[in-house]
Amino acid sequence: VAEIELEAFERRHLSGAIDLCDAEGWETYTEDPERTYRALASPGSTTLVAVDDGTVAGMVQLQSDGEIQAHLSALLVGERWRGLGVSRRLLREALASAGGMRIDIISTAESFYEHLGADRRPGFRLREANLEG
Ligand SMILES: CC(C)(COP(=O)(O)OP(=O)(O)OC[C@H]1O[C@@H](n2cnc3c(N)ncnc32)[C@H](O)[C@@H]1OP(=O)(O)O)[C@@H](O)C(=O)NCCC(=O)NCCS
Repeated sequence: VAEIELEAFERRHLSGAIDLCDAEGWETYTEDPERTYRALASPGSTTLVAVDDGTVAGMVQLQSDGEIQAHLSALLVGERWRGLGVSRRLLREALASAGGMRIDIISTAESFYEHLGADRRPGFRLREANLEG
């Protein structure tokens, strides 16, 4: 898929990125597009999009300390571009660009990460409400 280009996320990619999230039912990314823009463009994070002939086909966002630890915030490839190696490219390029030795991931896409050979570790998602009291 040489024609799919990876680019740094910019405002012109926002509506395409939101379309991908919408198709996946990711409401936290669709309910407030300006919040999503601020999140994806936030300084200190690395967000790349895969672009197929002007259409956003996928995206990845990493948070990294630049040297050791990186954390995956989002990885999404549109249904019609799946199985073409786009996610592998997005992850590889994002880690190279952000810096870091490894990526920690919380995900429901277990079979994908197992297929890539990722180590399995327990993970948690803590919300604000968990920290009250
Ligand atoms: C999971 C997802 C990101 C994979 O993206 P993709 O671009 O299709 O993945 P790739 O084509 O780069 O796949 C890389 C390898 O993993 C395999 N693979 C892809 N999806 C897989 C899955 N769900 N289960 C097992 N293996 C999978 C591919 O066959 C490929 O194998 P190969 O390199 O040995 O040929 C994509 O299906 C997706 O966006 N799903 C919905 C959102 C989601 O679950 N995101 C992850 C949240 S953190």
